[in-house]
Amino acid sequence: MNVALNRMFIDEEIKRAVIEVLESGWYVKGPKAGELEELFCNITGSEFAVSCSSGTSALMLAFASLGLGPGDEVLVPSHTFAASVNGFYHLGARPVFVDVDPETYTIDVEDMREKVTDRTRAILPVHLYGHPADMDPITEFARERNLKVVSDACQSHGALYRGKDVGAIGDIICYSFFPSKIITVAGEGGIITCRSGEHRDLMKALANHGRFEGERDVHRIPGYNMRLSEVLAAVGAVQLKHIGEWVERRREIARVYNEELDGLGDIVTPHEADWASHSYYLYVIRSTSRDALKEHLAMESISSGIHYPIPVHKMPYLEGDISLPVTERVVDEILSLPMHPLLEEEEQKLIIGSIRRFYKR
Ligand SMILES: Cc1ncc(COP(=O)(O)O)c(C=O)c1O
Repeated sequence: MNVALNRMFIDEEIKRAVIEVLESGWYVKGPKAGELEELFCNITGSEFAVSCSSGTSALMLAFASLGLGPGDEVLVPSHTFAASVNGFYHLGARPVFVDVDPETYTIDVEDMREKVTDRTRAILPVHLYGHPADMDPITEFARERNLKVVSDACQSHGALYRGKDVGAIGDIICYSFFPSKIITVAGEGGIITCRSGEHRDLMKALANHGRFEGERDVHRIPGYNMRLSEVLAAVGAVQLKHIGEWVERRREIARVYNEELDGLGDIVTPHEADWASHSYYLYVIRSTSRDALKEHLAMESISSGIHYPIPVHKMPYLEGDISLPVTERVVDEILSLPMHPLLEEEEQKLIIGSIRRFYKR
C-alpha cells in the first residue's frame, strides 16, 4: 500500500456542480464566484470577500490595493512559501525578513518589533501549517505604527485565534485553493477577505482589468485578469460546506499522531498555543535525523514532505547577509507526515508503526 501525503475530495455533488456550470455556458463573472464569496464570509465571519485566481493573486491584489511600491518594506517571516513574498515583490516593495517562534513556526513578535523601520508599510503574518500567528500583539503594534496587516492564510482555512476565525482578523486576509489545500477548487484559485468595502471594491476591480462594479467599459485603473472561473468556484462552494467536519477530522488525526509520537526518539510534535485552534493543513514533526527518517518512510511506501527546505531569505533572487537562527535550524529538521481528512485509520497505523521501527533500529 502506498500512503499519500494528501488526497483530494471529489464526490457526486461536485461532479454535478461542474456539469451544471459547463451546461450553463457562463464561465466567468457569473453567479458561482459570488456564491462562494458569500459562503466564505458566512463561514469566516468576515465582512467582505473577493474570489480570485490563486493565493498568489490574492496576495498581489491585497498589496496592490494598499498602493505598495518601491521604497516600501514589508515585515514577513522567511519560513514560508516564496509566494508570500512575491505577492508584494513585483510591486517593487522589499521584504524585511523576521525569524519565527520555535514552537508555532509563525512570525516572532519580538524580532518583528526590532526590524521595523520608517519605510515599513505592512506586516505579513503567515498562519503556517494551519497554526495562527499571535495576532493580538501584531495588530496592536500595527496600530501604534500605522501599518497594515495582510495575513497569509493560504494554509489555514478553519484555523481560530482566540476563538475567532483567522479570516476575520487583520486588514486583508489571503487564502489559496491550490489542490493540496484544506479547501480546493480542482485547479488554481484563491479568495481574499477584508473588513473594508472600499478595499473589496478596489481588489475586485484590480482582478477585473481595473473595472469597478457596474462599469463595463471604463477601466479606471490598470488592472489584472485574476478572476476565479465559474467551474472552479462551483467546486469550491461544495467543498466549503465540509470545512467544519474536515478540520475536525484533521484535528483528530493530529491528536492520534501526538499521542503516539510524543516522546519517541527525538521527535518534536507540533505545538498548539493555548490561544490557537490549529487546522492542521500540515502535520509537521521535527527530528535531527529527518533525512534518514524520510528515506526510511519512502522505503516503506509512505510519502512525506518538507515545507520548506530553503527559507525564502536564502532564495537566489533574495539572498542577503542576514541570519535567522530559528528558521535556519528548523528547516533542517521539519518533516510533514500524511495529513488529510480521507486518511484512513489503517494508513495512520502504518505510518506510526513505520516511525516506531525507525527509532528501534
Ligand atoms: C503560505 C502560502 N502562501 C502563498 C501560497 C500561494 O498560493 P497559490 O499556490 O494558490 O498561488 C501558498 C500555497 O501554495 C502558501 O502555502
